[in-house]
Amino acid sequence: MSSNSALTFPTHIKTVLITGASGFVGRKLVQLLLADHPHLRLITTDIHRPPTYGIEDEEKLVAVAVDLADKEQVGSLFGYGPVQGVFALHGIMSGQSEKDFTLGYAINLYSHLNLIAATTEHAQKQSRGGESVKPVYVNVSSLAVYGGEKATPSSTVVPEDTPLIPETSYGVCKNVIEMIVYDHARKGFLAARTVRLPTVCVRTGAPSSAASSFISSLIREPLQGQPAVCPIASSPEDPILEEMGIYVTRTKTVVRNIAYAMGLSDEEVVGRVGKLRTMNLPGIKINTRVILDALQKFGGDKATSLVSYSKDPAVIAICETWAGDYDSSAVEALGFQVDSRETGYEDAVRDFVEELKKD
Ligand SMILES: NC(=O)c1ccc[n+]([C@@H]2O[C@H](COP(=O)([O-])OP(=O)(O)OC[C@H]3O[C@@H](n4cnc5c(N)ncnc54)[C@H](O)[C@@H]3O)[C@@H](O)[C@H]2O)c1
Repeated sequence: MSSNSALTFPTHIKTVLITGASGFVGRKLVQLLLADHPHLRLITTDIHRPPTYGIEDEEKLVAVAVDLADKEQVGSLFGYGPVQGVFALHGIMSGQSEKDFTLGYAINLYSHLNLIAATTEHAQKQSRGGESVKPVYVNVSSLAVYGGEKATPSSTVVPEDTPLIPETSYGVCKNVIEMIVYDHARKGFLAARTVRLPTVCVRTGAPSSAASSFISSLIREPLQGQPAVCPIASSPEDPILEEMGIYVTRTKTVVRNIAYAMGLSDEEVVGRVGKLRTMNLPGIKINTRVILDALQKFGGDKATSLVSYSKDPAVIAICETWAGDYDSSAVEALGFQVDSRETGYEDAVRDFVEELKKD
């Protein structure tokens, strides 16, 4: 079993490709890899050229703008030399995918098919050239693959007993790609696995197009003197604020866990979570009251007074398809970290406050 703290990668992994590297999680992952894996070469990509963090040396970091919906452009990512690891993070989030079905499918489904096919083709070329170790492919998915009667805000999802019934286009595309990733592992083309993320908070930068966006904006905007709307409640006394469970993870923890997924062997993954190689990354159950209490603690009355309440039926409809809690014992046994169930959310807000001070 891998150690719980060390983020060691197999020694054959020398170059890693990261898609979605201009996004919220992608940026944090690149920063972690640069800090913890100084000998890795990173190829980072996004539709906009990802940040280079002052690194000019292409032996260390190549940052390229690529539209992953375009097959040829995807292929070009493998023109910088052999790649032994891929983190697939790019995507269109749930709210936007529901509004724009075609765009959601183009990115969350077809562009991921392009990337998996290009990685497989690259691996096959490498093995003909004498390199026989399969690239490790970490597919970043979402707990939005769950839905139905066993995955409601008041239920706890036990992975072995809960069918995958995605209730958004985003969740459907994530689920389909998980199966394609599994098939590439089953066929022996790639050492592939999927990690499903809880809602990551506190999200920095601009709000995302995810329905869960309010979970971060209720903290991020008021702590910067900006108004925020709570879209699930009609007033600060609305019982939904306590009743609706929300499953979240601290940014630091999830980024560490995504990186950790690359270091596990296929045997470890299959032995613990089964052949589909899907892992629900651990989170903690909170509710919106916990968020508002943290806002009061870190920002006082001034920040709290910037929150207004206005129910948005579209957001509530998506929130009602989320499970409130998940049994993550299997992945915790694999060495994935979990936030403190007592202080985890406050820790996430504290991280955010520290980041604001740096800016
Ligand atoms: N942030 C969360 O709370 C959360 C929760 C569950 C799952 N996830 C998953 O984690 C991954 C990263 O999430 P995030 O919060 O960083 O999202 P994000 O929206 O911040 O980043 C996604 C990136 O994908 C890029 N992208 C979109 N279309 C592209 C295209 N055609 N070509 C190239 N790049 C393209 C975007 O430009 C963006 O930078 C996503 O796959 C998301 O579904 C995130």
